Amino acid sequence: MNAPAFLQSRDRLLRLGAAVPRYTSYPTAPHFHDGVDEGTYRDWLAQVPEGTPISLYIHIPFCDRLCWFCGCHTKHTLKYEPVEAYLRVVEREIALVAAAIGKRVELRELHLGGGSPSLVKSRDLASIADHLRAAFDITEQSRISVEIDPSDLDAGDCSGLEALGMNRASIGVQDFDPVVQKAINRIQTFDDTARVAEALRKAGAKSLNMDALYGLPHQNTQTMLKTLEQVVSLRPDRIAMFGYAHVPWMKTHQRLIDEASLPGIEERFEQANAAGDYLEAAGYRRIGIDHFALPTDSLAIAAAEGRLRRNFQGYTDDPCEVLLGIGCSSIGRLPQGHIQNITATGNYMAAVNKGDLPVAKGIAFTLDDRIRARVIEMIMCDFRIDTAALEEEFGDAADKVIAEAEAICRQDRDGLLVKSGNDQVIPEPARPFARSVAARFDTYLETGKARHSSGV
Ligand SMILES: C[S@@+](CC[C@H](N)C(=O)[O-])C[C@H]1O[C@@H](n2cnc3c(N)ncnc32)[C@H](O)[C@@H]1O
Ligand code: SF4
Repeated sequence: MNAPAFLQSRDRLLRLGAAVPRYTSYPTAPHFHDGVDEGTYRDWLAQVPEGTPISLYIHIPFCDRLCWFCGCHTKHTLKYEPVEAYLRVVEREIALVAAAIGKRVELRELHLGGGSPSLVKSRDLASIADHLRAAFDITEQSRISVEIDPSDLDAGDCSGLEALGMNRASIGVQDFDPVVQKAINRIQTFDDTARVAEALRKAGAKSLNMDALYGLPHQNTQTMLKTLEQVVSLRPDRIAMFGYAHVPWMKTHQRLIDEASLPGIEERFEQANAAGDYLEAAGYRRIGIDHFALPTDSLAIAAAEGRLRRNFQGYTDDPCEVLLGIGCSSIGRLPQGHIQNITATGNYMAAVNKGDLPVAKGIAFTLDDRIRARVIEMIMCDFRIDTAALEEEFGDAADKVIAEAEAICRQDRDGLLVKSGNDQVIPEPARPFARSVAARFDTYLETGKARHSSGV
């Protein structure tokens, strides 16, 4: 996919690639407030109907290494006791949430993320599995995925993951180039990664994802493509190709990265395009702005059938309307709104130990929020605003936002959003700027509570 010349001008790139949210939710997290509290969450949970399929995200905020590029909510620890203590509290929170729902519901999707859930010992994964089974119905259809730092699975022991019933896994690769690895303090060989991928498949991972990054220090298009060649040789079902988000004002360890060694916006744009072209030629389908999947993978099938969704974990084919977050900082979404748990691990643990649901803040959706959330999801997933689908879902209430979309098409000199029949579409070369298009529909953006990473 070659960008037209007008997008390659530096001035335009700077303007169109300006910092905007990643739109893994709408309204975005900086607009959550403490008016939504534990009482609100209890009300919403009590309204979940019996038998509803739910999706659960469990956050493990620990790592046994600290990569300097990392933007996740995690803490470096070489001791296991704090992890163990935290896990006991997570188990208690699972029971509290199930009690607040008050009836049996089906756990359709479980995702353990972090941090590095791969550092959790086998006996603790088995214990979490017991608590989940006590709280929810887990079936053959349940999809259980875990984020893996390959350096945690040196011996390839996956018995704990098997006890959990893991059937999907995501391995962090980032980049295999030794110069880049040193600059981000993440040493990881190709051979170790390949061994872990094989062990995970043997342990039951039917779908394997690998995360890679562009825009890292000292990275250039050639070295990045070499990493992708190695990644592709392992044939993961999915590849997430994220742009490195440099946010040292939020993640102070990123100050250890020499800013002079970071690629500029034009290089980032070139890297993102080269990665996409390479992965497509290697047989992967483009999914949204930064994912790729083999045509046989459920994400590619969902995208082809118009069922792709976007949630806090990124792109997903998880159709659940109830997504609950467990663990510090985790975010959930219910039909009524978003909920976020307390971020600081100690405060989170203290709240759960008192028997409270550890809610810090959230937001209740207005009808306007719901319509805009759907429009933004369509932009991020399908690059098309499907006006008929909006009218079907929201009736006349959708007219205002559809009129806004039409006005953007008329006024947009950059051609990021154009009319196509009754719909508005983002033409292929403009797709890297989908976040900027989504931002045009974000009525909260002007209140400017947050700084974001580069839009490209
Ligand atoms: C929780 S980590 C993955 C699991 C495991 N901890 C690991 O590193 O292998 C989630 C992913 O977020 C991505 N990530 C982390 N920091 C990032 C940043 N600053 N910008 C963009 N992506 C980032 C990385 O690709 C990483 O694999
Ligand atoms: S990239 Fe993964 S292993 Fe590295 S610090 Fe972040 S969460 Fe931990």
